[in-house]
Amino acid sequence: MDKINVLYNEEEIDKRVRELANELHSKYGDEEVVFVSTLKGAVFFTCDLLKRYPGDARLEFLRVSSYEGESSTGKINLKLPLNAEKINGKHVVIVEDIVDTGYTLDYITKYVRDMHPKSLVTCTLLDKKARRVVEIDPTYSGFVIEDLFVVGYGLDYDQKYRNLPFIGVVVK
Ligand code: IMP
Ligand code: MG
Repeated sequence: MDKINVLYNEEEIDKRVRELANELHSKYGDEEVVFVSTLKGAVFFTCDLLKRYPGDARLEFLRVSSYEGESSTGKINLKLPLNAEKINGKHVVIVEDIVDTGYTLDYITKYVRDMHPKSLVTCTLLDKKARRVVEIDPTYSGFVIEDLFVVGYGLDYDQKYRNLPFIGVVVK
């Protein structure tokens, strides 16, 4: 097992997730909200966010993948589509684990927008702002991080380390 340095521990993540849940709830109040989570990475974040969200929440999933080597190429593949009926006319929050180049969030945002939600925002746990290629900013973000490859709390390195309860950096 590689050595992993903790970037955000469980307590820090939990605190920030509660803040995001409250911020979102103060926006929507009693109105129904559809959270669209992206498999697989955003699942841990989505579960915690929804457990802390005190309003009327629905949950949908989609899955995309980018042809990847070390970094994103911008070619996105839709692996699991959404049902447009669940989106049309609804308040939608797209939940992502991390925004890096922005290709993925840009693709998902356009895909969901084409289903005519009543409103649409994006919420990412992590934002690598300095790496952006596509001009897109998440509406809500947990932490803005430097250009580091992070793992844990859903994020993987070759499908490994998703199950770590903290967010960390692999020491090479
Ligand atoms: P983008 O399309 O370049 O913004 O990349 C988004 C996707 O790349 C994320 O949803 C992750 O799956 C993956 N990714 C980007 N940076 C990291 C990282 O530091 N750790 C793990 N996965 C990452
Ligand atoms: Mg992802």
